Amino acid sequence: MIIEVIEKRRNIKEFTQEKISKDSIEYLLNAAIWAPNHRKTEPWRFIVIPKDSKMRIKLANHIHDWNYKNASSKDENAKKEIANKEKVKILNVPALIYVYYVEDSDPEVDKENYSAVSCAIQNLMLAAQEIGIGVGWSTGKVCKAKVETLIGAEPDWEIAGALFLGKPKNQTQGKRRPINECTIWH
Ligand SMILES: Cc1cc2nc3c(=O)[nH]c(=O)nc-3n(C[C@H](O)[C@H](O)[C@H](O)COP(=O)(O)O)c2cc1C
Repeated sequence: MIIEVIEKRRNIKEFTQEKISKDSIEYLLNAAIWAPNHRKTEPWRFIVIPKDSKMRIKLANHIHDWNYKNASSKDENAKKEIANKEKVKILNVPALIYVYYVEDSDPEVDKENYSAVSCAIQNLMLAAQEIGIGVGWSTGKVCKAKVETLIGAEPDWEIAGALFLGKPKNQTQGKRRPINECTIWH
């Protein structure tokens, strides 16, 4: 039942080292591109950074340097520690996908494109849940670190998030407020 997949999906941050195959990634990307999209803009763009690839290593070094430069602490050891922690995260995650959407000069279309890419990410996450893969959606440092030129994103693409994928290390419980707290019935 789809409702079970929806309710069981969690944002995953810790993964086992089990590999995620290219076939699985293609399966998830195919789920993503069947998302609704107004005006048939198909605005989603994906950049897959394979584990152990040259690009993964370059990206990890870039993230390291960005975190070192932008660390909130002035303490040298603390700066090195945070930079290293973020680098290791990038190196270790079994699969990593950056997701962008094509910007539009019309604010209405731009908003629709962001909505559509968000639906695509949800499709991907649900398909992943179905086949036992966990996904962590991040718009944090991994996105803020100005990675676009390095990884080949086009200038008119806006980032929607970085998706960390792998077999979840543990099962976490989700929580939502009841529907009557967010619904007006007439
Ligand atoms: C647009 C968007 C951006 C997100 N960015 C982050 C992030 O940067 N870091 C993070 O830990 N979680 C991020 N999340 C995941 C949420 O924190 C997560 O969905 C929320 O805590 C609810 O948990 P659940 O998805 O397991 O139900 C993001 C989710 C969305 C929709």
